[in-house]
Amino acid sequence: MADGSTGGAGRLRLHVKTYGCQMNVYDSERMAAALAPLGYESADAADDADVVLLNTCHIREKAAEKVYSEIGRLKALKAARPGMVIGVAGCVAQAEGAEMLDRAPAIDLVVGPQAYHRLPAMLARVARGERPVEADFPAEDKFDHLPEDARPRRAPAAFLTVQEGCDKFCAFCVVPYTRGAEVSRPVARILAEAEALVARGVREITLLGQNVNAYHGADGGRELGLAGLVRRLAAIDGLERIRYTTSHPNDMRDDLIAAHAEVAKLMPYLHLPVQAGSDRVLRAMNRKHTAEDYLRLVERIRAARPDIALSGDFIVGFPGETEADFQATLDLVGAVGYAHAYSFKYSPRPGTPAAARAQVPEAEKADRLARLQARLAASQAAFQAATVGRVLPVLVEKPGRMPGQVAGRSPYLQAVHFAGEPALIGSIVPVRIVEAGNNSLAGEVAL
Ligand code: SAH
Ligand code: SF4
Ligand code: F3S
Repeated sequence: MADGSTGGAGRLRLHVKTYGCQMNVYDSERMAAALAPLGYESADAADDADVVLLNTCHIREKAAEKVYSEIGRLKALKAARPGMVIGVAGCVAQAEGAEMLDRAPAIDLVVGPQAYHRLPAMLARVARGERPVEADFPAEDKFDHLPEDARPRRAPAAFLTVQEGCDKFCAFCVVPYTRGAEVSRPVARILAEAEALVARGVREITLLGQNVNAYHGADGGRELGLAGLVRRLAAIDGLERIRYTTSHPNDMRDDLIAAHAEVAKLMPYLHLPVQAGSDRVLRAMNRKHTAEDYLRLVERIRAARPDIALSGDFIVGFPGETEADFQATLDLVGAVGYAHAYSFKYSPRPGTPAAARAQVPEAEKADRLARLQARLAASQAAFQAATVGRVLPVLVEKPGRMPGQVAGRSPYLQAVHFAGEPALIGSIVPVRIVEAGNNSLAGEVAL
């Protein structure tokens, strides 16, 4: 953070606005780190920034549309501040590339997720009056060129990208097109980055990947899977908690399930999207698993780690989904008992196979989404309520909303707040849960 001591005349200000998934959150930090050597420091608002980067998401239509409305707002700022640079990064940049320059003349540069290491050179081109676009898939690994995050961290919990891209091609999804083919980072690089994070006070690392459990990174002459990587990370002193997200059911191998039973630092929380409960819909989605496969998998995971909290993603109104198909989704939700979930109306994405199919009417989608969300909310409330009375180890991350409070996360990724001093930030404190809300828990230190 800029604290005054580092500020000086002539400093340049960078504002990065992040949309979409945690991968983008992580990439935004890396972009800031890549531009720090050029004298850019982070600005919390676009108003007084010299460079504004929108790190965008293309997953649903609404997400993509947000970008253009934000550019409309920035255009007004730019009119008052000539020389301000507006850049578009992320998955919309990757999907639309140079077209964005035509649609929004205020944009100065367009950079896809694989080209962030070229940002310094791109800004130099903007200064020469060009409008550079980098939205191809280079053979090189962007991580070889991006500096590790060199900025001080406030939070004791950090993300670390271990895998990027996806080869699964679910019929609804843009990720294989915007993030490219699946690539895993080498083990040594990940361990070095994790050690650097821990040296800076990080206690919890969430390993990121669009298909994180498909991880297969080079380790000397061999390859290591995610289970092996988790075990290697668990050996780092001072690293207390490990999580990973997002997983595909078909990549949930036995050794990873076993790690949930055996590695104490691996937290009992798993985001395992299923999307739908009807086998007909799952087949049309190209998910390559049935509802029964998923339920059996959940059983095996729970056998290894009985208290594991499960989270999921759901799509309603996928082309061809009938009321009976939708009921199968509700049945699956009832059978699993999710601690948490995201659910969406199907949004046709240009270039994906399902976009060309006959669509479910909007009103039908909205009705199913409301019913599904009511069911998921009840499931989440039950999970939250079941923790009342228990003592949970909470990693304290930040001051709470009220003075004299701190806030952190339970092993199950629940937000927990309790009375405590800011000095507790970074430590793991036993907290007795006294009250459960839908999105957070209240507790008191149990000593
Ligand atoms: N790689 C992860 C996340 C993919 S995107 C995974 O495989 O789970 C996150 C979620 O967005 C998906 O799980 C899916 O539920 C949702 N999603 C993706 N494309 C969508 C679309 N076209 N319409 C609605 N929801 C979509
Ligand atoms: Fe998209 Fe499917 Fe890949 Fe997930 S597994 S990123 S939903 S294509
Ligand atoms: Fe969105 Fe791209 Fe992530 S489309 S969900 S920002 S991978």
